[in-house]
Amino acid sequence: MKTPRTIVVGITGGIAAYKAVNIVRAFVLNGDSVHVIATAAALRFIGKPTLEAISRNPVHTDLYEGVAEVRHVAIGQGADLIVVAPATANSIAKLAVGLADDLLGNTILASRAPLVIAPAMHTEMWTNPATVANVAVLRSRGVTIVGPGVGRLTGTDSGTGRMEEPETIVAVALAVLDRTSPAGEAAASVLHDLTGRRVLISAGGTREPLDPVRFLGNRSSGRQGVALAQAALARGAVVTLVAANLEVPVPTSITTVMVTSALEMQEAMTTAASAADVIIMAAAVADYRPTAVQHGKIKKEEAGDTLTLELVKNPDILAGLSATSRPGQVIIGFAAETEADADRLLNLGREKISRKGCDFLVVNRVGYVDGETVGFGTERNTVTVLDRHGVIVNEAAGSKMSVANCILDLIG
Ligand code: CTP
Repeated sequence: MKTPRTIVVGITGGIAAYKAVNIVRAFVLNGDSVHVIATAAALRFIGKPTLEAISRNPVHTDLYEGVAEVRHVAIGQGADLIVVAPATANSIAKLAVGLADDLLGNTILASRAPLVIAPAMHTEMWTNPATVANVAVLRSRGVTIVGPGVGRLTGTDSGTGRMEEPETIVAVALAVLDRTSPAGEAAASVLHDLTGRRVLISAGGTREPLDPVRFLGNRSSGRQGVALAQAALARGAVVTLVAANLEVPVPTSITTVMVTSALEMQEAMTTAASAADVIIMAAAVADYRPTAVQHGKIKKEEAGDTLTLELVKNPDILAGLSATSRPGQVIIGFAAETEADADRLLNLGREKISRKGCDFLVVNRVGYVDGETVGFGTERNTVTVLDRHGVIVNEAAGSKMSVANCILDLIG
């Protein structure tokens, strides 16, 4: 059983405070111990009993309660991670100058835990030079900023400023937590080891059209590729995701190019490749596509009792990117294999990396094992990473987020 970590969730006074309930709940369900500090303004948007029931702990607001136990310092000292969501323009300004006029401000100042904030405000406030400068100060201190997203705001208007979706905030926060020693002083430098690196990732599974209503596809959900994108973002990278038919949401703060087929993915990846420092081909690309796409729906009366499809080979995107890579660019491929024997699995990986010409290959077993699906479509993964000489350089088993961080360690 894992040891519960202590996460402090700070909620400040914005309408998105109601969504913080989902963040608190996700941390609790993840097995972590959650302490909510809501500002007085936050409690005008959301009720204390709700937060206490969901977090399973008392919710604190007042600086002058619990003085005997020195609460304003104790909560911060005991935290492994602090997440402020939503973070209003006012609370960001206070954090930037280190104000401690309420319990949340005191807690953050008294803590050495990594800090993740999810801004939420109207576009004008987000783009105001004062907020821009405050956010830059926080970033320079190693604070992880998640979002804001683009979309519908509180009124009838739309734009940048929407709080990032709770599941994204939780994913980034847990990635930050996984990367840091409990409340360690070294946290800030470790966290941003990919700052400014341009990382291009493909995710999902391609669909090869047969006719206007049918396609040939595969079971990839895109979870591992999206986890890689979230983890790279949390570590400071500038991420572009080429996404094929994902079953999972993508954080709006990640530049995403949507594609459907292998040919579309090839075009998107080759276009973006020249600007990338690191390329990760996590997508399951169909090896073949129908030679011709029927204009109308294939009718069984016309096809008869058996239907033969003619397929043509798709280009190997990874091999193409490796062949044209520029000096210093790191290219990482995946090998999805159904082989059960560990030695034979690795040998398939070794043959594959020599065919593909990439720098690293992440070998993972996929398919059905003892009646259970592994690899594709699941929450967890088990991988072995080979270098171009076929030598094992890393192994990981666990959540797709922890596997993602293990892969990113190769380039960090
Ligand atoms: N890949 C690719 N283009 C293809 C097929 C695969 O870029 N047309 C990439 C995948 O994204 C992955 C790696 O190549 O990073 C290996 O994919 P995999 O499906 O395991 O191998 P295949 O190349 O299809 O080889 P095989 O059919 O022999 O398993």
